[in-house]
Amino acid sequence: MSSETPHAHRSHRPATPLSGSITVPGDKSISHRALMFAGLAIGETRITGLLEGEDVLRTAAAMRALGAAVRRDSDGAWLVAGTGIGGLHSPDDVLDMGNSGTAARLLCGVLASHDIFAVMTGDASLRRRPMRRVIDPLAACGAVFAAREGGRLPLAVTGAADARPLSYRLPVASAQVKSALLLAGLNARGITEVEEPEPTRDHSENMLRHFGAVVSVVPHGAGKLIRLQGQPELIAADIIVPGDPSSAAFPIVAALLVPGSRITIAGVGLNPLRTGLFTTLLEMGADITITNKREAGGEPVGDLVVVASSLRGIDVPAARAPSMIDEYPILAVACALARGPSRLRGLGELRVKESDRLAATLAMLRVNGAHVEVEGDDMIIDGGANRLGGGTVLTQMDHRLAMSALVLGMAADAPVMIDDARFIDTSFPGFMGLMRGLGAAIEAEPEAA
Ligand code: S3P
Repeated sequence: MSSETPHAHRSHRPATPLSGSITVPGDKSISHRALMFAGLAIGETRITGLLEGEDVLRTAAAMRALGAAVRRDSDGAWLVAGTGIGGLHSPDDVLDMGNSGTAARLLCGVLASHDIFAVMTGDASLRRRPMRRVIDPLAACGAVFAAREGGRLPLAVTGAADARPLSYRLPVASAQVKSALLLAGLNARGITEVEEPEPTRDHSENMLRHFGAVVSVVPHGAGKLIRLQGQPELIAADIIVPGDPSSAAFPIVAALLVPGSRITIAGVGLNPLRTGLFTTLLEMGADITITNKREAGGEPVGDLVVVASSLRGIDVPAARAPSMIDEYPILAVACALARGPSRLRGLGELRVKESDRLAATLAMLRVNGAHVEVEGDDMIIDGGANRLGGGTVLTQMDHRLAMSALVLGMAADAPVMIDDARFIDTSFPGFMGLMRGLGAAIEAEPEAA
Protein backbone atom coordinates (compact mmCIF):
# COMPACT_ATOMS: atom_id res chain seq x y z
CA MET A 1 0.00 0.00 0.00
CA SER A 2 1.02 3.59 -0.54
CA SER A 3 3.02 5.14 2.22
CA GLU A 4 1.32 8.49 1.53
CA THR A 5 -0.19 9.32 4.90
CA PRO A 6 -2.66 10.15 6.32
CA HIS A 7 -5.13 7.73 4.76
CA ALA A 8 -8.26 9.87 4.65
CA HIS A 9 -8.52 12.21 1.65
CA ARG A 10 -10.92 14.88 0.47
CA SER A 11 -11.67 16.13 -3.02
CA HIS A 12 -13.56 19.25 -4.04
CA ARG A 13 -14.35 21.29 -7.11
CA PRO A 14 -11.15 22.63 -8.62
CA ALA A 15 -10.81 26.36 -9.24
CA THR A 16 -10.02 25.76 -12.90
CA PRO A 17 -11.05 23.10 -15.44
CA LEU A 18 -9.07 19.86 -15.77
CA SER A 19 -6.62 19.93 -18.64
CA GLY A 20 -3.58 18.10 -19.95
CA SER A 21 -2.35 14.93 -21.61
CA ILE A 22 -1.79 11.76 -19.62
CA THR A 23 -1.32 8.04 -19.91
CA VAL A 24 -2.82 5.64 -17.39
CA PRO A 25 -1.04 2.58 -15.93
CA GLY A 26 -1.07 -0.73 -17.78
CA ASP A 27 -4.11 -2.94 -18.00
CA LYS A 28 -4.54 -5.03 -14.87
CA SER A 29 -6.15 -8.05 -16.55
CA ILE A 30 -3.50 -8.19 -19.27
CA SER A 31 -0.66 -7.67 -16.79
CA HIS A 32 -1.67 -10.65 -14.62
CA ARG A 33 -2.02 -12.84 -17.69
CA ALA A 34 1.27 -11.68 -19.20
CA LEU A 35 3.17 -12.78 -16.07
CA MET A 36 1.38 -16.12 -15.83
CA PHE A 37 1.58 -17.11 -19.49
CA ALA A 38 5.19 -15.91 -19.77
CA GLY A 39 5.98 -17.92 -16.62
CA LEU A 40 4.68 -21.04 -18.38
CA ALA A 41 6.45 -20.35 -21.67
CA ILE A 42 9.87 -21.44 -22.85
CA GLY A 43 12.35 -18.60 -23.25
CA GLU A 44 12.36 -15.02 -22.01
CA THR A 45 9.40 -12.71 -22.50
CA ARG A 46 9.82 -8.96 -22.30
CA ILE A 47 6.76 -7.14 -20.97
CA THR A 48 6.53 -3.39 -21.54
CA GLY A 49 3.99 -1.23 -19.72
CA LEU A 50 3.19 -3.82 -17.03
CA LEU A 51 0.95 -2.43 -14.30
CA GLU A 52 3.14 -2.07 -11.24
CA GLY A 53 0.17 -2.04 -8.87
CA GLU A 54 -0.04 -4.13 -5.73
CA ASP A 55 -2.31 -6.74 -7.34
CA VAL A 56 0.03 -7.48 -10.22
CA LEU A 57 3.12 -7.46 -8.00
CA ARG A 58 1.45 -10.31 -6.06
CA THR A 59 1.21 -12.31 -9.28
CA ALA A 60 4.87 -11.58 -10.06
CA ALA A 61 5.89 -12.80 -6.60
CA ALA A 62 3.74 -15.94 -6.91
CA MET A 63 5.18 -16.87 -10.32
CA ARG A 64 8.66 -16.38 -8.88
CA ALA A 65 7.80 -18.62 -5.91
CA LEU A 66 6.64 -21.28 -8.39
CA GLY A 67 9.93 -21.28 -10.27
CA ALA A 68 9.71 -18.67 -13.05
CA ALA A 69 12.50 -16.07 -13.19
CA VAL A 70 10.77 -12.70 -12.99
CA ARG A 71 12.72 -9.44 -12.83
CA ARG A 72 12.34 -5.77 -13.62
CA ASP A 73 14.85 -4.34 -16.05
CA SER A 74 16.50 -0.96 -15.46
CA ASP A 75 14.36 0.57 -18.25
CA GLY A 76 11.11 -0.46 -16.53
CA ALA A 77 10.35 -3.50 -18.70
CA TRP A 78 9.73 -6.84 -16.98
CA LEU A 79 11.59 -9.94 -18.06
CA VAL A 80 10.10 -13.35 -17.41
CA ALA A 81 11.95 -16.59 -18.13
CA GLY A 82 9.33 -19.33 -17.98
CA THR A 83 9.66 -22.92 -16.83
CA GLY A 84 7.63 -24.41 -19.68
CA ILE A 85 4.22 -25.98 -19.08
CA GLY A 86 4.46 -28.59 -16.33
CA GLY A 87 7.73 -27.16 -15.06
CA LEU A 88 6.53 -25.20 -12.01
CA HIS A 89 7.55 -26.44 -8.56
CA SER A 90 5.83 -26.23 -5.17
CA PRO A 91 6.35 -22.88 -3.47
CA ASP A 92 8.13 -23.15 -0.14
CA ASP A 93 5.75 -20.74 1.58
CA VAL A 94 2.14 -19.57 1.45
CA LEU A 95 1.20 -17.60 -1.68
CA ASP A 96 -0.34 -14.30 -0.53
CA MET A 97 -2.47 -12.79 -3.29
CA GLY A 98 -3.23 -9.61 -1.33
CA ASN A 99 -6.41 -7.88 -2.59
CA SER A 100 -6.49 -9.53 -6.01
CA GLY A 101 -9.34 -11.82 -7.02
CA THR A 102 -7.93 -12.13 -10.53
CA ALA A 103 -4.52 -13.24 -9.26
CA ALA A 104 -6.05 -15.77 -6.86
CA ARG A 105 -8.56 -17.28 -9.27
CA LEU A 106 -6.28 -17.48 -12.30
CA LEU A 107 -3.49 -18.94 -10.23
CA CYS A 108 -5.85 -21.68 -8.97
CA GLY A 109 -6.05 -22.75 -12.62
CA VAL A 110 -2.28 -22.79 -13.01
CA LEU A 111 -1.82 -24.81 -9.81
CA ALA A 112 -4.63 -27.30 -10.53
CA SER A 113 -2.82 -29.05 -13.36
CA HIS A 114 0.70 -29.01 -11.91
CA ASP A 115 2.01 -31.81 -9.73
CA ILE A 116 2.59 -29.50 -6.77
CA PHE A 117 1.24 -28.54 -3.38
CA ALA A 118 0.48 -24.92 -2.57
CA VAL A 119 -1.38 -22.86 0.01
CA MET A 120 -2.93 -19.53 -0.93
CA THR A 121 -4.30 -16.67 1.12
CA GLY A 122 -5.16 -12.99 0.71
CA ASP A 123 -6.17 -9.86 2.60
CA ALA A 124 -9.44 -9.52 4.53
CA SER A 125 -11.33 -8.45 1.38
CA LEU A 126 -10.05 -11.36 -0.72
CA ARG A 127 -10.63 -13.86 2.10
CA ARG A 128 -14.34 -12.96 1.96
CA ARG A 129 -14.67 -13.59 -1.80
CA PRO A 130 -16.06 -16.81 -3.29
CA MET A 131 -13.51 -19.23 -4.70
CA ARG A 132 -15.86 -22.14 -5.22
CA ARG A 133 -16.66 -20.81 -8.67
CA VAL A 134 -13.14 -21.86 -9.69
CA ILE A 135 -12.25 -24.71 -7.35
CA ASP A 136 -15.39 -26.76 -8.05
CA PRO A 137 -14.91 -26.94 -11.84
CA LEU A 138 -11.11 -27.23 -11.52
CA ALA A 139 -11.43 -30.29 -9.26
CA ALA A 140 -12.70 -32.23 -12.30
CA CYS A 141 -9.15 -32.24 -13.72
CA GLY A 142 -7.99 -34.28 -10.70
CA ALA A 143 -6.79 -31.46 -8.43
CA VAL A 144 -7.72 -31.64 -4.76
CA PHE A 145 -8.64 -28.36 -3.07
CA ALA A 146 -9.29 -27.81 0.64
CA ALA A 147 -10.70 -24.39 1.39
CA ARG A 148 -12.17 -22.61 4.37
CA GLU A 149 -15.90 -22.90 4.98
CA GLY A 150 -17.90 -21.34 2.14
CA GLY A 151 -15.08 -22.00 -0.32
CA ARG A 152 -13.04 -19.03 0.91
CA LEU A 153 -9.31 -18.47 1.26
CA PRO A 154 -7.01 -19.65 2.71
CA LEU A 155 -7.02 -22.75 0.56
CA ALA A 156 -4.62 -25.60 -0.10
CA VAL A 157 -4.30 -27.36 -3.42
CA THR A 158 -2.66 -30.58 -4.48
CA GLY A 159 -2.47 -30.29 -8.23
CA ALA A 160 -3.16 -33.19 -10.59
CA ALA A 161 -0.08 -35.11 -11.68
CA ASP A 162 -1.78 -36.08 -14.94
CA ALA A 163 -4.60 -33.61 -15.42
CA ARG A 164 -7.76 -34.49 -17.30
CA PRO A 165 -9.08 -31.89 -19.74
CA LEU A 166 -12.13 -29.92 -18.55
CA SER A 167 -15.43 -29.34 -20.23
CA TYR A 168 -17.51 -26.73 -18.48
CA ARG A 169 -20.36 -24.31 -19.04
CA LEU A 170 -19.88 -21.17 -16.97
CA PRO A 171 -22.90 -20.49 -14.75
CA VAL A 172 -21.92 -16.80 -14.48
CA ALA A 173 -20.29 -14.59 -17.09
CA SER A 174 -16.80 -14.49 -15.58
CA ALA A 175 -13.54 -14.03 -17.44
CA GLN A 176 -11.71 -15.05 -14.28
CA VAL A 177 -13.37 -18.46 -14.19
CA LYS A 178 -12.96 -18.94 -17.93
CA SER A 179 -9.27 -18.05 -17.68
CA ALA A 180 -8.68 -20.34 -14.70
CA LEU A 181 -10.05 -23.28 -16.70
CA LEU A 182 -7.96 -22.42 -19.75
CA LEU A 183 -4.84 -22.12 -17.61
CA ALA A 184 -5.53 -25.56 -16.12
CA GLY A 185 -6.19 -26.89 -19.62
CA LEU A 186 -2.70 -25.89 -20.68
CA ASN A 187 -1.26 -28.87 -18.81
CA ALA A 188 -4.07 -31.35 -19.46
CA ARG A 189 -3.98 -34.04 -22.16
CA GLY A 190 -6.57 -33.34 -24.82
CA ILE A 191 -9.01 -30.53 -25.44
CA THR A 192 -10.38 -28.25 -22.74
CA GLU A 193 -13.77 -26.74 -23.58
CA VAL A 194 -15.33 -23.71 -21.93
CA GLU A 195 -18.76 -22.46 -22.87
CA GLU A 196 -19.60 -18.93 -21.81
CA PRO A 197 -23.23 -17.79 -21.76
CA GLU A 198 -22.25 -14.21 -22.62
CA PRO A 199 -18.94 -13.01 -24.07
CA THR A 200 -16.45 -11.81 -21.45
CA ARG A 201 -13.03 -10.20 -21.85
CA ASP A 202 -10.92 -12.40 -24.12
CA HIS A 203 -7.38 -11.38 -23.13
CA SER A 204 -6.52 -14.98 -22.18
CA GLU A 205 -7.57 -16.33 -25.57
CA ASN A 206 -5.64 -13.55 -27.37
CA MET A 207 -2.54 -14.09 -25.30
CA LEU A 208 -2.61 -17.88 -25.60
CA ARG A 209 -2.52 -17.47 -29.39
CA HIS A 210 0.25 -14.88 -29.04
CA PHE A 211 2.34 -17.52 -27.24
CA GLY A 212 1.58 -20.15 -29.90
CA ALA A 213 -1.28 -22.21 -28.39
CA VAL A 214 -4.09 -23.49 -30.57
CA VAL A 215 -7.36 -21.93 -29.39
CA SER A 216 -10.62 -21.93 -31.31
CA VAL A 217 -13.49 -19.63 -30.46
CA VAL A 218 -16.89 -20.04 -32.09
CA PRO A 219 -20.20 -18.27 -31.43
CA HIS A 220 -22.45 -20.40 -29.27
CA GLY A 221 -25.97 -19.16 -28.58
CA ALA A 222 -25.61 -15.69 -27.06
CA GLY A 223 -22.06 -16.53 -26.01
CA LYS A 224 -19.01 -18.45 -27.18
CA LEU A 225 -17.44 -21.89 -27.12
CA ILE A 226 -13.70 -21.86 -26.49
CA ARG A 227 -11.54 -24.91 -27.17
CA LEU A 228 -7.91 -25.21 -26.18
CA GLN A 229 -5.58 -27.98 -27.30
CA GLY A 230 -3.72 -29.10 -24.15
CA GLN A 231 0.03 -29.31 -23.60
CA PRO A 232 1.14 -26.92 -26.31
CA GLU A 233 4.64 -25.54 -26.23
CA LEU A 234 4.24 -21.90 -25.26
CA ILE A 235 7.06 -19.87 -26.76
CA ALA A 236 8.18 -16.59 -25.17
CA ALA A 237 6.70 -13.62 -27.06
CA ASP A 238 7.12 -9.97 -26.09
CA ILE A 239 4.06 -8.13 -24.81
CA ILE A 240 3.12 -4.46 -24.84
CA VAL A 241 0.47 -3.83 -22.18
CA PRO A 242 -2.01 -1.10 -23.18
CA GLY A 243 -3.33 1.51 -20.74
CA ASP A 244 -6.17 0.13 -18.62
CA PRO A 245 -9.59 1.33 -19.81
CA SER A 246 -10.92 0.59 -16.32
CA SER A 247 -8.37 3.04 -14.88
CA ALA A 248 -8.91 5.59 -17.67
CA ALA A 249 -12.56 5.61 -16.59
CA PHE A 250 -11.76 7.83 -13.58
CA PRO A 251 -10.03 10.76 -15.34
CA ILE A 252 -12.55 10.42 -18.20
CA VAL A 253 -15.57 10.85 -15.95
CA ALA A 254 -13.81 13.59 -13.97
CA ALA A 255 -13.13 15.54 -17.19
CA LEU A 256 -16.72 15.07 -18.38
CA LEU A 257 -18.10 16.39 -15.07
CA VAL A 258 -15.78 19.33 -14.26
CA PRO A 259 -17.08 22.21 -16.43
CA GLY A 260 -14.73 23.46 -19.15
CA SER A 261 -12.34 20.49 -18.93
CA ARG A 262 -10.49 18.96 -21.85
CA ILE A 263 -7.99 16.13 -21.45
CA THR A 264 -6.23 13.60 -23.66
CA ILE A 265 -5.43 10.05 -22.54
CA ALA A 266 -2.98 8.27 -24.84
CA GLY A 267 -2.64 4.54 -25.41
CA VAL A 268 -5.85 3.25 -23.84
CA GLY A 269 -6.85 -0.38 -24.50
CA LEU A 270 -10.01 -0.56 -26.60
CA ASN A 271 -10.78 -4.27 -26.62
CA PRO A 272 -14.52 -4.26 -27.49
CA LEU A 273 -15.19 -6.59 -24.57
CA ARG A 274 -13.93 -3.86 -22.22
CA THR A 275 -15.46 -0.68 -23.62
CA GLY A 276 -19.06 -0.82 -22.37
CA LEU A 277 -18.48 2.32 -20.29
CA PHE A 278 -17.37 4.34 -23.32
CA THR A 279 -20.48 3.21 -25.25
CA THR A 280 -22.67 4.17 -22.29
CA LEU A 281 -21.06 7.57 -21.77
CA LEU A 282 -21.45 8.37 -25.49
CA GLU A 283 -25.14 7.47 -25.21
CA MET A 284 -25.36 9.86 -22.25
CA GLY A 285 -24.10 12.69 -24.46
CA ALA A 286 -20.38 12.58 -23.60
CA ASP A 287 -17.93 14.30 -25.92
CA ILE A 288 -15.25 11.59 -26.25
CA THR A 289 -13.26 11.24 -29.45
CA ILE A 290 -11.05 8.28 -30.19
CA THR A 291 -8.05 9.05 -32.37
CA ASN A 292 -4.95 7.25 -33.56
CA LYS A 293 -6.50 3.77 -33.43
CA ARG A 294 -3.83 1.11 -33.68
CA GLU A 295 -2.88 -2.33 -32.44
CA ALA A 296 -0.35 -3.00 -29.70
CA GLY A 297 0.53 -6.48 -28.47
CA GLY A 298 -2.52 -8.05 -30.13
CA GLU A 299 -4.99 -5.62 -28.55
CA PRO A 300 -6.69 -2.54 -30.07
CA VAL A 301 -5.46 0.76 -28.60
CA GLY A 302 -6.32 4.42 -29.15
CA ASP A 303 -5.99 7.95 -27.76
CA LEU A 304 -9.03 9.54 -26.15
CA VAL A 305 -9.90 13.23 -26.18
CA VAL A 306 -12.47 14.00 -23.49
CA VAL A 307 -14.33 17.31 -23.28
CA ALA A 308 -16.65 18.32 -20.42
CA SER A 309 -20.23 17.53 -21.36
CA SER A 310 -23.73 17.86 -20.05
CA LEU A 311 -24.79 14.24 -19.48
CA ARG A 312 -28.30 12.79 -19.51
CA GLY A 313 -29.56 9.71 -17.63
CA ILE A 314 -29.36 6.30 -19.25
CA ASP A 315 -30.87 2.82 -19.17
CA VAL A 316 -27.98 0.33 -19.40
CA PRO A 317 -28.97 -3.20 -20.49
CA ALA A 318 -27.85 -6.18 -18.38
CA ALA A 319 -26.17 -7.69 -21.45
CA ARG A 320 -23.60 -4.89 -21.36
CA ALA A 321 -22.48 -5.70 -17.80
CA PRO A 322 -19.57 -8.04 -18.66
CA SER A 323 -17.96 -5.36 -20.85
CA MET A 324 -18.00 -2.78 -18.05
CA ILE A 325 -18.26 -4.85 -14.88
CA ASP A 326 -15.62 -2.83 -13.00
CA GLU A 327 -16.95 0.54 -14.16
CA TYR A 328 -20.34 0.69 -12.39
CA PRO A 329 -19.20 2.68 -9.34
CA ILE A 330 -17.79 5.46 -11.55
CA LEU A 331 -20.74 5.25 -13.96
CA ALA A 332 -23.06 5.64 -10.97
CA VAL A 333 -21.21 8.87 -10.10
CA ALA A 334 -21.76 10.13 -13.67
CA CYS A 335 -25.45 9.19 -13.43
CA ALA A 336 -25.87 11.04 -10.12
CA LEU A 337 -24.59 14.18 -11.85
CA ALA A 338 -26.55 13.66 -15.08
CA ARG A 339 -29.99 15.06 -15.92
CA GLY A 340 -32.84 12.61 -15.38
CA PRO A 341 -33.15 9.05 -14.16
CA SER A 342 -30.77 6.16 -14.89
CA ARG A 343 -31.25 2.43 -14.53
CA LEU A 344 -28.21 0.15 -14.45
CA ARG A 345 -29.39 -3.41 -14.95
CA GLY A 346 -28.05 -6.83 -14.02
CA LEU A 347 -25.47 -5.89 -11.38
CA GLY A 348 -25.62 -9.08 -9.28
CA GLU A 349 -21.92 -9.83 -9.79
CA LEU A 350 -21.00 -6.53 -8.11
CA ARG A 351 -21.88 -8.14 -4.78
CA VAL A 352 -18.75 -10.33 -4.94
CA LYS A 353 -16.11 -7.81 -5.99
CA GLU A 354 -13.42 -6.25 -3.73
CA SER A 355 -16.39 -5.09 -1.62
CA ASP A 356 -20.12 -5.66 -2.06
CA ARG A 357 -19.97 -2.95 -4.71
CA LEU A 358 -23.71 -2.74 -5.15
CA ALA A 359 -24.25 -1.87 -1.48
CA ALA A 360 -21.08 0.23 -1.29
CA THR A 361 -21.96 2.30 -4.38
CA LEU A 362 -25.45 2.88 -3.01
CA ALA A 363 -23.98 4.01 0.31
CA MET A 364 -21.41 6.26 -1.41
CA LEU A 365 -24.11 8.10 -3.34
CA ARG A 366 -26.66 8.27 -0.51
CA VAL A 367 -24.24 9.69 2.03
CA ASN A 368 -23.59 12.43 -0.51
CA GLY A 369 -27.24 13.30 -1.04
CA ALA A 370 -28.07 11.40 -4.25
CA HIS A 371 -31.44 9.67 -4.73
CA VAL A 372 -30.61 6.06 -5.43
CA GLU A 373 -32.29 2.69 -4.95
CA VAL A 374 -31.45 -0.94 -5.57
CA GLU A 375 -34.27 -3.07 -6.99
CA GLY A 376 -33.24 -6.72 -7.29
CA ASP A 377 -30.00 -6.57 -9.31
CA ASP A 378 -30.69 -3.10 -10.77
CA MET A 379 -29.54 0.28 -9.52
CA ILE A 380 -31.81 3.25 -10.11
CA ILE A 381 -30.30 6.71 -9.80
CA ASP A 382 -32.27 9.90 -9.98
CA GLY A 383 -29.84 12.42 -11.41
CA GLY A 384 -29.79 16.09 -10.60
CA ALA A 385 -30.30 16.06 -6.82
CA ASN A 386 -30.35 19.61 -5.47
CA ARG A 387 -27.11 19.37 -3.62
CA LEU A 388 -24.49 16.64 -3.81
CA GLY A 389 -21.42 16.02 -1.67
CA GLY A 390 -20.55 16.66 1.95
CA GLY A 391 -20.37 12.96 2.91
CA THR A 392 -17.65 10.59 4.06
CA VAL A 393 -17.36 7.40 2.03
CA LEU A 394 -16.19 4.17 3.66
CA THR A 395 -14.09 2.57 0.95
CA GLN A 396 -14.06 -0.99 2.38
CA MET A 397 -10.65 -1.99 0.94
CA ASP A 398 -12.04 -1.26 -2.55
CA HIS A 399 -9.80 0.78 -4.86
CA ARG A 400 -12.53 1.56 -7.39
CA LEU A 401 -14.87 2.85 -4.73
CA ALA A 402 -12.15 5.14 -3.39
CA MET A 403 -11.42 6.63 -6.83
CA SER A 404 -15.12 6.97 -7.70
CA ALA A 405 -15.80 8.88 -4.50
CA LEU A 406 -12.89 11.26 -5.14
CA VAL A 407 -14.24 11.94 -8.66
CA LEU A 408 -17.68 12.63 -7.16
CA GLY A 409 -16.11 15.25 -4.91
CA MET A 410 -14.50 16.98 -7.92
CA ALA A 411 -17.92 17.73 -9.40
CA ALA A 412 -20.28 17.86 -6.40
CA ASP A 413 -21.49 21.00 -4.63
CA ALA A 414 -19.61 20.15 -1.44
CA PRO A 415 -16.36 18.21 -0.87
CA VAL A 416 -16.36 14.42 -0.53
CA MET A 417 -14.17 12.61 1.96
CA ILE A 418 -12.91 9.02 1.80
CA ASP A 419 -11.71 7.17 4.88
CA ASP A 420 -8.79 5.36 3.26
CA ALA A 421 -6.98 5.99 -0.03
CA ARG A 422 -4.36 3.26 0.34
CA PHE A 423 -6.08 0.59 -1.75
CA ILE A 424 -5.96 2.80 -4.85
CA ASP A 425 -2.44 1.41 -5.34
CA THR A 426 -3.82 -2.04 -6.10
CA SER A 427 -4.80 -0.94 -9.61
CA PHE A 428 -3.80 2.72 -10.11
CA PRO A 429 -0.46 3.64 -8.54
CA GLY A 430 0.12 7.36 -9.00
CA PHE A 431 -3.60 8.21 -9.19
CA MET A 432 -3.34 11.19 -6.83
CA GLY A 433 -0.39 12.77 -8.61
CA LEU A 434 -1.84 12.18 -12.05
CA MET A 435 -5.22 13.70 -11.15
CA ARG A 436 -3.59 16.64 -9.38
CA GLY A 437 -1.47 17.18 -12.49
CA LEU A 438 -4.70 17.62 -14.47
CA GLY A 439 -5.82 20.22 -11.93
CA ALA A 440 -7.89 18.11 -9.53
CA ALA A 441 -8.15 19.25 -5.93
CA ILE A 442 -7.46 16.25 -3.66
CA GLU A 443 -6.03 16.74 -0.21
CA ALA A 444 -4.99 14.48 2.62
CA GLU A 445 -7.04 14.97 5.77
CA PRO A 446 -4.63 14.97 8.69
CA GLU A 447 -7.17 15.29 11.51
CA ALA A 448 -9.25 12.35 10.27
CA ALA A 449 -6.32 9.95 9.88
C1 S3P B 1 -11.20 -9.80 -14.59
C2 S3P B 1 -12.51 -10.15 -14.73
C3 S3P B 1 -13.61 -9.51 -13.99
C4 S3P B 1 -13.19 -8.18 -13.37
C5 S3P B 1 -11.84 -8.24 -12.72
C6 S3P B 1 -10.78 -8.66 -13.72
C7 S3P B 1 -10.17 -10.53 -15.32
O1 S3P B 1 -14.02 -10.38 -12.97
O2 S3P B 1 -14.14 -7.76 -12.42
O3 S3P B 1 -11.47 -6.98 -12.19
O4 S3P B 1 -9.02 -10.06 -15.41
O5 S3P B 1 -10.48 -11.61 -15.84
P1 S3P B 1 -15.05 -11.59 -13.29
O6 S3P B 1 -14.45 -12.39 -14.35
O7 S3P B 1 -15.15 -12.38 -12.02
O8 S3P B 1 -16.33 -10.92 -13.66
